[in-house]
Formats: sequence, C-alpha cells, structure tokens
Amino acid sequence: MKRSRNPYRQARMQLKEKEEAGGKNWYLEHDNTYYDFIWEFFINQYRTEDIPSYDYRIIQIFEEAGDRDSLKLDIGCGHGLMSHKLKNTIFADFSKRILTEFWLGEKYSDRVQADVFNLSFKDEIFRVVIASELLEHLENPKRALDEIKRVLQPGGIVLASVPKDKTPGEPGHYFIEVTEEMLKEWFCEFKDLRIETVEPDPWRKWVHYVIFARKEKT
Ligand SMILES: C[S@@+](CC[C@H](N)C(=O)[O-])C[C@H]1O[C@@H](n2cnc3c(N)ncnc32)[C@H](O)[C@@H]1O
Repeated sequence: MKRSRNPYRQARMQLKEKEEAGGKNWYLEHDNTYYDFIWEFFINQYRTEDIPSYDYRIIQIFEEAGDRDSLKLDIGCGHGLMSHKLKNTIFADFSKRILTEFWLGEKYSDRVQADVFNLSFKDEIFRVVIASELLEHLENPKRALDEIKRVLQPGGIVLASVPKDKTPGEPGHYFIEVTEEMLKEWFCEFKDLRIETVEPDPWRKWVHYVIFARKEKT
C-alpha cells in the first residue's frame, strides 16, 4: 500500500489496517491515553471556573452565543470541558469512553456516540453547533462542516475553536496546523464569518482562533 507523508493520513491508514485485521479502534486507544494525561494534569487541578483567559473566554463565548432555550449540539465534545454547563445541548463524540468515564457534566446529560462526517440527526434541527478543538484533528474539515451545516437550522450558527498555527501536540495526537486562510476556505459555505484570536494564558502557551459563522437564512 502506498504510504502517505501526512501523519494524519498515515494514522488513518494504520487504523484501517488494524480494523481490517480485527484490531481495536486506533483513535479510541490514543485519545484515551491523551485524556488520561489531561485528567491528571488539567481537570484535577482546575475547576472550570478557575481556568483563566483562553479557556474561560471560549466558554463565555459559547454561553453568550446560543440563547439558553435553543437546541445545541456539541460535536467532538470530549469530556465536556468547554460546554458541559450549557443547557439544551446534545453532547456527541466519536469516543464512547470519553463520554462515559471522563464525563464532567451531569449524569443525565444527553450524550451520544457520533461521527461528525455522518451525524445521525435529521436536517436543520440545531440552532447552534459547537465544534471545539475538533476540526484540526480531521482529515477533511470542510466535509465535516458540510455535515454540520446540514443539521443546522437556516440562520443557525456554528462556533468552533482551533489552535493557531503550530501547537505542541502530544505524541500520537495528530492535528493540522491551522491558518486563517485555511479557516476562510473551510467556512466558505457559511455567512458572517468572524475569526477571533484568543491570547494564551500563563499555563496554556499557545494562541487559539475562535470562529463564528452562520448558515444562510432561506
Ligand atoms: C481535542 S478533543 C476536544 C474536546 C472538547 N471539544 C474540548 O474542547 O475540550 C477532540 C475530540 O474530538 C473527538 N473526535 C475526533 N474525531 C471525531 C469525529 N470524526 N467525530 C466526532 N468526534 C470526533 C475526539 O474523540 C475528541 O474527544
């Protein structure tokens, strides 16, 4: 099989080979290692309210963006760090373990295992879709945004965050180095695109983009 030089593609090929050989899901294995790390060094040390600037600003934006009563989807929600306090939200992630063992929110929050490329939701049901720190991990972010657009109501908004440019990734945690030009291309099917830069804080040492975009009203 022809080998790609893109580490993400390589990893996906490994996953495919493993799955064909009856092995375990690569992403789950890796992300569980990653979240063990996060759990230990991050969640246990800080309550969400204590997290300064970068994280807190993003949480604030998420809270302000959707009115409390509108139906929201957080896709790639992980353990819910950014959004677990939001009301009327369905939390969805590729990894079942993250949604169960590491979940930070209420026990009864709506959580589903879902793939952003093939969401099991009807067209146009969400007012807000959140994709926090997800797009940079995907092989085809634009295709994921097409699927997000499908489940958004006309005039609904997508809120995303990605690390800006190069970030110190953990071994085995693959991501695309995102630029503003890439974001403009990924979100070209949306209206009212706004890209905000959120500064790092003393212990999270990289800058993030927060992205707002709206699906056209029909
Ligand atoms: C870096 S974490 C971000 C978690 C959370 N949104 C946050 O900001 O703290 C990326 C998450 O995306 C999930 N993910 C990766 N690929 C996915 C896919 N194709 N569909 C749904 N979730 C996916 C992973 O399982 C992981 O929980």
